[in-house]
Amino acid sequence: MALINPSILSADFARLAEEAKAVEGADWLHVDVMDNHFVPNLTLGVPVVESLSKATETPLDLHLMIEDPDRWAPQYIEAGAGSVTFHVEAAAAPVRLAREIRAKGARASMALKPATPIEPYEDLLPELDMLLIMTVEPGFGGQAFLDIMLPKIRRTRELISRHGLEMWLQVDGGVSAATIERCAEAGADVFVAGSAVYSADDPAKAVRDLREKAET
Ligand code: DX5
Ligand code: ZN
Repeated sequence: MALINPSILSADFARLAEEAKAVEGADWLHVDVMDNHFVPNLTLGVPVVESLSKATETPLDLHLMIEDPDRWAPQYIEAGAGSVTFHVEAAAAPVRLAREIRAKGARASMALKPATPIEPYEDLLPELDMLLIMTVEPGFGGQAFLDIMLPKIRRTRELISRHGLEMWLQVDGGVSAATIERCAEAGADVFVAGSAVYSADDPAKAVRDLREKAET
């Protein structure tokens, strides 16, 4: 199984509803929330997520690159998010936050920046529905894939298997036709792709092609 989640960070923000429709057939729509504090870029907030969730049938995969996700995550679930990813580097109480996200009916997910190791968080894995391994420094689309993250993807997949967990392993950053097979081979099963999808002439076809590559 391979899930492909196009990132609307690479879409035209003046036409978000149409851009979301252009990738219907994708598994989730990845929505990057940036606050200009946790990362040096600013995108969108709760009201835009609320409108977007009404404009598409595709469930929303929120990636919160913000300070104080403990305070904001519940509002994004009320706005229509089906999955909420917070950064462990920003969360005050990751276990409490993951439990709160699940209790509110969304999938709970935790992200690791490239320099954050997985090993200290092994015991938290059962609290999560997904783990996100960043394969670029968060903040911008269109950056080059960091090959040096492949061993971390592999080690994380081993931990997930060892604990007998059902959780998903997502990669985000520089995922394209040129890199997706390496990610899948290392053990990722959910793939975020921004520029690779939205710079294609036919974004829906780009999603199908990525899925096929990831599943071979
Ligand atoms: C980067 C974001 C990504 C971004 C990926 O901080 O989290 O979701 O949209 O864009 P590409 O696929 O172009 O690297
Ligand atoms: Zn993202």
